[in-house]
Amino acid sequence: MSIVITGATGLMGSLFLEALTREQPKAEVHCLVRPDSDRSIINSLALKLYYSVGDSSTPQNWESLLSEKTLNTIIHLAQLRHVPVILDSLKKAQQWPRLIIIGTTGVYSQYNQYSQDYEQAESTLQTYRGSYCLLRPTMIYGSHRDKNLHKLIKFCDRYGFFPVFGSGNCLLQPVHADDLAKALLSVLLNPNIKGSYDLSGGTVVTFRELLALVEKLLEKPVRPLYVPYNLGLGAATFAEKILGARSPVRREQILRLQEDKAYSHEAAQRDFGYEPRSLEIGLAQEIEILRAEGII
Ligand SMILES: NC(=O)c1ccc[n+]([C@@H]2O[C@H](COP(=O)([O-])OP(=O)(O)OC[C@H]3O[C@@H](n4cnc5c(N)ncnc54)[C@H](OP(=O)(O)O)[C@@H]3O)[C@@H](O)[C@H]2O)c1
Repeated sequence: MSIVITGATGLMGSLFLEALTREQPKAEVHCLVRPDSDRSIINSLALKLYYSVGDSSTPQNWESLLSEKTLNTIIHLAQLRHVPVILDSLKKAQQWPRLIIIGTTGVYSQYNQYSQDYEQAESTLQTYRGSYCLLRPTMIYGSHRDKNLHKLIKFCDRYGFFPVFGSGNCLLQPVHADDLAKALLSVLLNPNIKGSYDLSGGTVVTFRELLALVEKLLEKPVRPLYVPYNLGLGAATFAEKILGARSPVRREQILRLQEDKAYSHEAAQRDFGYEPRSLEIGLAQEIEILRAEGII
């Protein structure tokens, strides 16, 4: 198989390559990485890895790659919004490899600043002449490399409280990065898996229940500090205006905390045996990693 992957150096990409190493240690994979990407995480794997340096949002990078190779599969993990660029380049090259794309359940959000771009990328994907599989994870967790939960755990561990904007009753269903890596491998190894799948975690919790679970697993008190929704929204808007990207909390985050983010993964369970771990097990594993790394 001639496989090209983007996002190989990221959390999901590196775990996926580890899973592939266990299943097919002799596989050859071509990684499209940025000039500053830290390849050390994946270089130690037994796989035969080849690198092209470039950006997956740039047509020239795809065009030069496609002029050198006939691709069998593209696994695009870097960013759903790059899909139209990839499809244009494939059309020019008249190549129709299988596409495995990581999207996001953020496409369903009323408040995500990119949800329209995601919708557009998804509808472009539906016009693809070849076969594709789109996997939409919910919030990804699992280690100090995740974007969300490790920060919450660290804050709770250090300060013994966490702000809850509004009622804290909105639903969440975070997914463990290892479960996603396993799902990605199942999809790669089964060419009959096509279409779109939501990949959520094994447990649905409210934000308050999430904090209670973190308290239980850290074995120290974590008090919810309730902040009225409008006050939180106003403060985040102000902080963003003053501090820009350095603001500790964004307006969009507060808005999205009022949305339920639980999605069924029944279709993935039925079609490729997707069985995500429970949040309690996954968080206990993450806390163990954070302790081992000296982060908490
Ligand atoms: N984090 C979440 O909660 C979440 C939820 C749903 C969906 N997703 C999606 O899941 C995918 C993987 O997530 P992750 O947590 O593994 O992300 P990650 O750890 O941040 O890794 C992102 C990877 O994509 C690469 N990348 C980013 N922009 C690129 C570009 N323009 N050109 C080439 N490579 C680029 C990064 O390269 P460098 O090493 O150079 O940075 C890195 O290897 C992403 O598409 C993300 O949007 C994430």
